[in-house]
Amino acid sequence: MARVLNDNNLIAALDIGTSKTCCVLAYPVNEDKAVVVGAGSHQNTGVKKSEIVDLAATVDSVRHAVANAESFINERIKTVVATACVGSLNSMIVQDKLDLGGTEVSQSDVNRLTANAQAKIPVTPDEVLHCIPIDYSLDSRHSIADPRGLSGNTLFLSMHVVTTPPYPVRDMNTAFEQSHLSCFKKVASPYAAGYACLTREEKKQGTAVIDLGAGSTGIGVFYEDQLVYAARIPFGGDILTKDIATLFKTSLDNAERVKTLHGSTLPSATYEQEEIPIPLIGEDENVSLIRVPRARIVAAIVPRIEELFEKIKVLLEQTGFFDICLNFVLTGGGAQLHGINEKAAAVLGRNVRTGHPVRLFDKQEIIPPHAHQSYMNCIGMLRYTTRVLLNTPTHQRDITAPAGNKFVRFFRWFLDNS
Ligand SMILES: Nc1ncnc2c1ncn2[C@@H]1O[C@H](COP(=O)(O)OP(=O)(O)OP(=O)(O)O)[C@@H](O)[C@H]1O
Ligand SMILES: [Mg+2]
Repeated sequence: MARVLNDNNLIAALDIGTSKTCCVLAYPVNEDKAVVVGAGSHQNTGVKKSEIVDLAATVDSVRHAVANAESFINERIKTVVATACVGSLNSMIVQDKLDLGGTEVSQSDVNRLTANAQAKIPVTPDEVLHCIPIDYSLDSRHSIADPRGLSGNTLFLSMHVVTTPPYPVRDMNTAFEQSHLSCFKKVASPYAAGYACLTREEKKQGTAVIDLGAGSTGIGVFYEDQLVYAARIPFGGDILTKDIATLFKTSLDNAERVKTLHGSTLPSATYEQEEIPIPLIGEDENVSLIRVPRARIVAAIVPRIEELFEKIKVLLEQTGFFDICLNFVLTGGGAQLHGINEKAAAVLGRNVRTGHPVRLFDKQEIIPPHAHQSYMNCIGMLRYTTRVLLNTPTHQRDITAPAGNKFVRFFRWFLDNS
């Protein structure tokens, strides 16, 4: 059985990404504090568009990232909390109610209602990542933070369930096994991103965190302090890089450099005159260069970024969550694209800001500031671990157990017979 903490109470957060794997090590202090003691990353060529396509390359990336983090403190990591970084994310709300007969709500009522709601999760081969109690109502009283001790006739629970298809998870498990790691908990990556960079006020008001990765974009909607929707779409920064490589007949590495150094979504009068040298693929890079006005690079990027935020908007509208997203916060490597906030705000018609990791952690400077976006999900998982896995009161706990599995059946039997 995996444990959440390693020897010496060390938390290890691991984020396997399309471009790189990151690992951060920290000692928990309290619900809001941890001491970061190690951080490491390594490039990954084994994941494409949220799928593991090369197991050996992924394992190599995980091993190197973990070893780099371990080298800070000479400790050996055995167990990790990791992002569920491959496969799609599916969200559903399940609801149930419990007859109280006018009595006070007890802890065992909450447990029973939780187990009943979990039993309503459709039985599929998908893995349940999160079961988050998002709303308790007691008769006509809604949005009750903690129902325990209150009296009424009927207690209602709405639970947000996040699932992911089974095979990508199995691939992840194989990658962990081959890296000699056990995984205590998989966290949906936009959930982790939200823990890293949203303020309490944003989570309460209604905010979408958008994790702009290399191979995919994660979307997490927070409302009334809870994650109420999560999704991932297979559209990431690699698409921009490929567009630039194709358009200007250059290698992917050169296209990546052009995008990150000269890319923008904002027009400028100077961009017509500003010439960017781009080496031609397969030629002697120092000899065969073309010179491209920066305006043409911007013109290649803008329609893709508009397409991405239109996709996000349509998805949120179709699922009914757009109206509660008053703010959008961009994270992940793609959030560093010059002018992306302005372009996103224009398409979405909402406030947009760049996410910065909440400063909860002493010695966070082990992670260099220029790499904060890459490490965002790891920082979020540290906070998730200290807040949810180690300290959350039971009525708010993110309880993960697939419907119909042995644990739920046992739990229900236990409640029914206690
Ligand atoms: N300054 C920049 N401008 C534009 N894009 C950038 C910039 N810096 C990084 N990126 C892009 O960010 C992406 C990498 O982001 P990130 O590290 O969050 O991805 P990942 O976690 O490896 O991928 P995924 O989450 O999709 O598995 C790459 O596409 C990279 O080109
Ligand atoms: Mg990522």
